[in-house]
Amino acid sequence: MKVKVNPDVCIGCGACQAIAPDVFEINDDGIAQEISEEVKEEFVEDATDAKEGCPVNAIYDPEDVVEEQAA
Ligand code: F3S
Repeated sequence: MKVKVNPDVCIGCGACQAIAPDVFEINDDGIAQEISEEVKEEFVEDATDAKEGCPVNAIYDPEDVVEEQAA
């Protein structure tokens, strides 16, 4: 699984970092960013919860985007 945060959409609510602190961090701009784009197996569940829990849907899987563009 891969994750990315869209910095134009994130409002810095911090929920993702609270849910998945090994996957997301809040940067100096107060916006979330992925610590590493590739999510380690043990953090996939947390990353999925954070992705689904983001109030503005700023978290996405870049592989999904590629599939959508190809379709
Ligand atoms: Fe931003 Fe959503 Fe996380 S608004 S701080 S990406 S939960």
